Amino acid sequence: MATTSAVRAQGLFRAYDDFVAVNGIDFDIQVGECFGFLGPNGAGKTTTMRMIYRTSPVGGGTLEIFGRDASGQGADRDLKAMMGVVPQLDNLDQEMTVTENLTVFARFYGMSKKDRQTRVEEMIEFADLVDKRDSLVETLSGGMKRRLMIARGLLGDPKLVILDEPTTGLDPRARQRIWEKLSELRKRNATLILTTHYMEEAERLCDRIAIMDAGEIVALGSPRDLIQAHVSKHVVDIRLGFDGDAKALKPLYGDAKRVEELQDRVLLYVDDAESLIARVAHEFPELDALVRQATLDDVFLKITGRGLDG
Ligand SMILES: Nc1ncnc2c1ncn2[C@@H]1O[C@H](COP(=O)(O)OP(=O)(O)OP(=O)(O)O)[C@@H](O)[C@H]1O
Ligand SMILES: [Mg+2]
Repeated sequence: MATTSAVRAQGLFRAYDDFVAVNGIDFDIQVGECFGFLGPNGAGKTTTMRMIYRTSPVGGGTLEIFGRDASGQGADRDLKAMMGVVPQLDNLDQEMTVTENLTVFARFYGMSKKDRQTRVEEMIEFADLVDKRDSLVETLSGGMKRRLMIARGLLGDPKLVILDEPTTGLDPRARQRIWEKLSELRKRNATLILTTHYMEEAERLCDRIAIMDAGEIVALGSPRDLIQAHVSKHVVDIRLGFDGDAKALKPLYGDAKRVEELQDRVLLYVDDAESLIARVAHEFPELDALVRQATLDDVFLKITGRGLDG
């Protein structure tokens, strides 16, 4: 089936004075896809997101949203109305109540008064803020504000949802609720773009991920492909004990795609853990070894911790 682009960037660039924050990146996000930007602090994720939701000018290259040119600064109300945005930083109106904050946005989407009330009510319930509906935002806890920001971003039933670290600071129950809501949106073919520092979240939600570092996309693919390409299926984690010496394990290194020597253990990245575990049990019966699935955490550490050749 033919796919269509929701957001397409070519050579997308942004500098602040002479500091380059986004250095000519290419990506093509498909309609209905959940696309994640990962990367260390300062990698350029928020700058990229802000260009997509048009609060930061595009410094160079091209940017198209649903086939329309979005690299200029012209106010494109239609485009804005299709987007739901959850920025990284709290930009709620602190001196308004929870309900008022949502109502102001509902007006922007041009809903009738009746629809507006129903929708605001629905989103207050979704954000679990029924008890706080008449409280001023400044009196909410950090996590409550975050939930309100997400509710506000999803209020207009957007076709394109842009979430910059949506679940940072949320408790596990609230996070679960957000994940469920985002899955629901996916079922209705909304396109999701998100950043997160939680690898588990990215792995769970994203079809594809771009890992950014110093303004560049340094890896791009599905979570599974990234794991396969950069680490391996499994990690054999061998505990050395207090006086253990990694050197003794060197004969095993040839069996691994990659080796990471840590202070008290050695990580061996392998596709077939069984034979290696058997070898460890046979040759080093005194050592503890456990096997776990490789995760995006391993990919992230490898790529952003020591460069692609690491
Ligand atoms: N308004 C600004 N003026 C000057 N420099 C900026 C500005 N906004 C961002 N930067 C710089 O651009 C770089 C990228 O910042 P950005 O906010 O995009 O990073 P990020 O990947 O979102 O990081 P984080 O994970 O910490 O949110 C950083 O070095 C930052 O200091
Ligand atoms: Mg950011």
